[in-house]
Amino acid sequence: MTSLADIRSTFLDYFARQGHEIVSSSPLVPRNDPTLMFTNSGMVQFKNLFTGLEHRDYARATTSQKCVRAGGKHNDLDNVGYTARHLTFFEMLGNFSFGDYFKDEAIPFAWELLTKDFGLDKSKLHVTVYHTDDEAAAIWNKIGVPDERIIRIATDDNFWRMGPTGPCGPCTEIFYDHGPHIWGGPPGSAEEDGDRFIEIWNVVFMQNEQFEDGTMRPLDMQSIDTGMGLERFAALMQGTNNLFETDLLRSIVEAAAHVTNRDPEGDTLPHLRVMADHLRTSSFLIAEGVLPSNEGRGYVLRRIMRRAMRHAHLLGAKDPVMHRLVPELIRQMGGAYPELGQAKALMEETLMAEETRFKQTLDRGLRLLDEALDGLPDDADLPGETAFKLYDTFGFPLDLTQDALREKGRLVDVAGFDHAMQEQKAKARAAWSGSGEAADSPVWFDIAENRGTTEFLGYETESAEGQIQELVRDGATLGEASEGETVQIVVNQTPFYAEAGGQVGDTGFIRTDTGLAEVTETRKVAGVFIHFATVREGSILRGQPAKLDVSHARRTAIRANHSATHLLHEALRGALGEHVAQRGSLNAPDRLRFDFSHGKALSAEELARVEAEVNAMIRQNSQVSTRIMTPDDARAIGAQALFGEKYGDEVRVVSMGEADTGKGTDGRTYSIELCGGTHVRQTGDIGAFVALGDSASSAGVRRVEALTGQAALDYLAGRERLLSETASVLKAQANEVPERVRALLDERKALQAELADLRRDMAMGGGAGGAGPREEQVNGIRFLGQRLEGVTGKDLPPIVDQFKGQGDSGVALLIADTGGKAAVAVGVTKDLAGRFDAVALLRLAVETLGGKGGGGRPDMAQGGAASAENSGAAIAAVRAKLEEG
Ligand code: ALA
Repeated sequence: MTSLADIRSTFLDYFARQGHEIVSSSPLVPRNDPTLMFTNSGMVQFKNLFTGLEHRDYARATTSQKCVRAGGKHNDLDNVGYTARHLTFFEMLGNFSFGDYFKDEAIPFAWELLTKDFGLDKSKLHVTVYHTDDEAAAIWNKIGVPDERIIRIATDDNFWRMGPTGPCGPCTEIFYDHGPHIWGGPPGSAEEDGDRFIEIWNVVFMQNEQFEDGTMRPLDMQSIDTGMGLERFAALMQGTNNLFETDLLRSIVEAAAHVTNRDPEGDTLPHLRVMADHLRTSSFLIAEGVLPSNEGRGYVLRRIMRRAMRHAHLLGAKDPVMHRLVPELIRQMGGAYPELGQAKALMEETLMAEETRFKQTLDRGLRLLDEALDGLPDDADLPGETAFKLYDTFGFPLDLTQDALREKGRLVDVAGFDHAMQEQKAKARAAWSGSGEAADSPVWFDIAENRGTTEFLGYETESAEGQIQELVRDGATLGEASEGETVQIVVNQTPFYAEAGGQVGDTGFIRTDTGLAEVTETRKVAGVFIHFATVREGSILRGQPAKLDVSHARRTAIRANHSATHLLHEALRGALGEHVAQRGSLNAPDRLRFDFSHGKALSAEELARVEAEVNAMIRQNSQVSTRIMTPDDARAIGAQALFGEKYGDEVRVVSMGEADTGKGTDGRTYSIELCGGTHVRQTGDIGAFVALGDSASSAGVRRVEALTGQAALDYLAGRERLLSETASVLKAQANEVPERVRALLDERKALQAELADLRRDMAMGGGAGGAGPREEQVNGIRFLGQRLEGVTGKDLPPIVDQFKGQGDSGVALLIADTGGKAAVAVGVTKDLAGRFDAVALLRLAVETLGGKGGGGRPDMAQGGAASAENSGAAIAAVRAKLEEG
C-alpha cells in the first residue's frame, strides 16, 4: 500500500467513509479566481464555499487536486532540483468542511488516518500550531501528542493564505522526522530548512477573509481546509525523504536518463529531476490549453519548459528530448488524469516545437553568457543589460539565466534587467505614438505599461474572474462608473475575445459585488483588451474583483462560423484552384462572409460542390487542433496565411479535418491556417452549412456569404416552406414545381402575344364584325390617320409595320389615347423616302396635339403628347402636308 495510486485511494476512501463527497480535481487554470495564476492547493475550487458566496449540496468534501506552484505567492520553481522536497507540479490530497466540523474533528481525522490506516509511527510525528491557538494545542494533547512535540509558531508559516486575497486562517501542521541521519531541525529551529523534518499535512482553520486593502474580517462560518502533498507522503511511505525517489517520479527520472543517454545517478540527478518535474508541469498545463507565449500563464509555462530544456542540454542532448518523456508520463498518470491521454499529440508537438526553437539560440546565448562572465571580476553580478539581451535576443527568461548562474555561485543585477526592460518599452511606445492608430491610444499605452497586457482566457473558457484594473471614458481613467453610464473596462484577464482577424468581439456581462455592466463590444489596443460597456445596475469600481461572462449562444454561433470559414476556404481552393487566397472575412454570430481572389463568378454547380464538401467535413466530426509554431514551421506544414500580413516570432495554427482523396482519407490534414480566432472543438459542432451565393466584392475578388448551425437550418426550413406552399398553390408535387412554373411562363408568353394581337385588331376596328382600318387615298398616297383606344405606345409600331406591309406609297399616323396621354407613331414606306420624312411628320402631329419633340428614323418615328384631344386636327395637318406633295 505504498504506491501513489494506493495512497490516493486510501485517503479518499477514508474521508468518504467519514461522510465526505469525493470531488474531482479542478483545472490548473482557476476559473473562479481573478488573482491566482494557477491552482496552488485543494481549496481553490472551494474558495466561494468558505466565504458563503456559493452553496453546494454537500458540507464535507475530499479531493486529490492537481496543483502548480510556479509563480505568485506559492512559488517553488527556484528550489526544484536542488532540494529533496520541492516540485512545481504535485497532487494535493485534502478534506474540507464547509461550516460543518471544525478543529476538534479535523485533528483526530488526520491523526487516525496517519497512524491507523497508514500506520505511521506516532513517535516520529511532530506538530505545529499558531502561537495563540491553545485550543488546537489542547486537542493534540488530548489525542496523545506530548507537549515537547507540539511547537508553537508565531510566523505566517502557521497562518495560511491562498494568495493576496481570499479565505485564510491559522493552521496546524504535521511533520515527519526522517531521522538523525539527515541534516535538519524541527520547525521553528535554525535548521528547519533541512530535509530531516518534512511537513506532510497542513490543517487550516478557515475563519477569516483577507481583502485587497489589507484588512482581514472573520468569516460567518468556521471551516476546514487541509492539504497533504501526495508525493511527499509517498516518499515517506516508501522509506525515502526524496520525492524524486518515489515510484512515479523515479520512473520519469529514469526515462529522462534514457533519452539523454545518462545514468540516473550522481551529478546528473539534479538535471534529470528538473526535467522530470518540469515535464509534469508543462504537460498538464498544455493539456489544459495553456500554450507557451510571452505573457501571463503562457510565459510561466515557457520559463518552465526552457528551464528543463537547458538542463537536458547540459546533459549533452543534441536533439529535442522532452517530448519523448510524454509516453512515460501518460503511463504513470494517464489513469488518474485522462486529459493527458487525450492531449498526447498536443503535448508532444508543443514540447518538441519549443525545444527546437530554443535550441536554435541556446548555444549562442550560453556562449554570450560565458563571455560576459569571463570579462567580470569573480564576485561581480551579471550586468542587467546582458541578462536583458539574453532575454530579448536569445529567449532566456530571467530565471533561466539566474538558474544557470546559480551553478557558478553568481547572481544577476535584477534592477539593471528591469531598467533595460523599461527602456525597451519606452522605445516601443514612442514608435507607437507615431502610428496614429487611435486618437485615445495614449491611455491604452499607459495602461499596457503600468498594468501589463490583458491575459486572454477565452480559448478555454467563456466565464472567468478578473480584476477591474481601469475604467476609461474619453481617453481618461476614472475610479467608478454608475448605472446608465457607458465606460470602457480593462481587467487583468478576460474570456472576452477582442475583434481581430475578421472575428467580431464578444459581448456579455461583467458583474462585481456592487454592480452589473453589459459589454456590447470588445476590442484591443496595445495588448489591452477594452470592454465597451454600459453599467446596468449599481456601480463598478476600479480594483474590484469581477465575474466575466461571455454571451454563450452568440459566441457558439461565432465559433461555428469561424471554423466553417476555414473549411470553406479549403473547399474553394479544391474546387477552383490554388490561386484562391483569402482577401478578407467576417465571422459574426448571424453569418459568415469570405472574400477571395478569383476572376469570375462561381457557377451554380461549383457553389453546390463547395457547399457539399464543407458539409461532408462537418459530418466527419474530426477534432480541431491548435498549435503554436514559428511562421516558417507553419508554412512548412502548408498553413494558409494572409498574404502581406506581418506575423510575430510565433503563430497560432488551427488545423481541422482529414483530407479525403476520393478513395478514403490518407492522413493529411484538410485545413491548416494561421489564426488567432476561437473555434469549435469538433467540426460536427458547426452543425450545417448553407452557401447563400457568390457576388463580386471588388475587381478579381469574389465574396461568398454563408450560414451555419441553427441559422442554416432555419434558412433551409424557410426555403422548404416556400416550396411546399408554392407546390400547393400550383396543385403539384414539390418536384414538379420547376416544370410547372416553366409551363406557366410559356403559356403566359403565348397569351400575351395573342392578347396584343387582339387588342391591335380591336383598336383598328378589326376583329370579328369590326369596321377595318380607315385607309384613304391622298394625292396618290395611301394614308392611314387614326386615333386608337385601348392600346399603348408599344402597340403602335407593329400596326405601322402591318400597314407598310400591305403595299407601297403609304403613310400612317397613329395616335393612341392612353388615358389622358397620347402616344404617337408615324410610318413612311421606303419608296416615299426623300419625299416625306417620318420624323418631320411626327413633329407636326405632336405639335398640333400640343406636345413637343419625338424622334426616330425617316421611315418610322415616335413621340408623345399630354393629351389626344386634338387628334382630329393633327390628322388633318398631316393630311394637308401629303396634299402639298
Ligand atoms: N490550503 C492548505 C495548504 O495548501 C491546506 O497548505
